[in-house]
Amino acid sequence: MRWMVTGAGGALGTDLVARLGAPGTPPADTLTALTRADLDVTDPDAVHGAVRAWLAAPGEGPAVVVNAAAYTAVDLAETDPGAGAQAWAVNAEAPGLLAAACAAGGATLVHVSTDYVLGPLPGGERRPLEPGDPTAPVGVYARSKLAGEERVRAALPGAHHIVRTAWLYGATGPNFVRTVARLSRERDTLDVVDDQHGSPTWTADLADGLLALARSSAPAGTRHAAGGGATTWWGLARAVFEELGADLGRVRPCDTASFPRPAPRPAWSVLSDVSWRAAGVAALPPWREALHRAVTHHPELLLG
Ligand SMILES: NC(=O)c1ccc[n+]([C@@H]2O[C@H](COP(=O)([O-])OP(=O)(O)OC[C@H]3O[C@@H](n4cnc5c(N)ncnc54)[C@H](OP(=O)(O)O)[C@@H]3O)[C@@H](O)[C@H]2O)c1
Repeated sequence: MRWMVTGAGGALGTDLVARLGAPGTPPADTLTALTRADLDVTDPDAVHGAVRAWLAAPGEGPAVVVNAAAYTAVDLAETDPGAGAQAWAVNAEAPGLLAAACAAGGATLVHVSTDYVLGPLPGGERRPLEPGDPTAPVGVYARSKLAGEERVRAALPGAHHIVRTAWLYGATGPNFVRTVARLSRERDTLDVVDDQHGSPTWTADLADGLLALARSSAPAGTRHAAGGGATTWWGLARAVFEELGADLGRVRPCDTASFPRPAPRPAWSVLSDVSWRAAGVAALPPWREALHRAVTHHPELLLG
């Protein structure tokens, strides 16, 4: 297969590139990995030119673009109009450009979206969320991600995989796991929100899943993929403390109201893996086991 990864320098992008370059990758596979410095996905001419050049290069088999580029500074997008405009350009408009370029060249697009596009279930019900559940994005980042989904569906109806994931952490860049590890050394106690529920997801596991989905014969569609099971931010912080061998009593639960943020976070964003397994792709491993593997492979995560 012929692969192109955009946003290749981000947390997920780095793992996608590592996976596609790893031993065991089918020898006929070719990879074009483009960081932001290589390709600004908001530049229409650059996007069309990059996709055309990639498709014209030697290579065999189906052509797949995996879009890991995104504007992810969720709170800054809320408070700074320039950042908000950038979030819109990268998260809403650029996926439409990539989808149009894929449509012109006959390529498939794997596009990554977020639990933040989903709204609360009617009547306050709490069950794992399916792709068909109501969307109700709150905030600039969330709205921009939903708009990106819509543009991908419109421009490339038969050849897209939109994958909503949640609570990512990886070896590259800032993330919650690294922050908790750092704060464990800087503070005696940590107050961590215990009324937001979600599914922590290691980017390496998500990368494996995205590539398996693209290699499968699953039809175009929107699916959910996150680490198995669910916890709260407090539960995840305690798990990081467990991995550190630190005193769990130092991690104290608190509520969201104690930590107001510019962009509101969903209280319930546990993602169901039913749509994922229905596509014939293995569910992502349970989040707690994944965290242990992540810090075993990348002990630097626990250095903060
Ligand atoms: N992080 C989470 O908890 C989370 C949760 C749910 C869904 N997601 C989604 O998962 C995907 C991957 O997220 P991530 O955590 O890997 O994000 P990330 O680490 O912030 O990586 C995003 C990458 O996109 C690049 N980028 C930004 N603007 C660009 C542009 N105009 N052109 C090309 N590249 C650009 C960034 O480059 P610079 O660093 O140079 O700006 C960065 O390398 C995103 O779609 C995100 O919305 C993330």
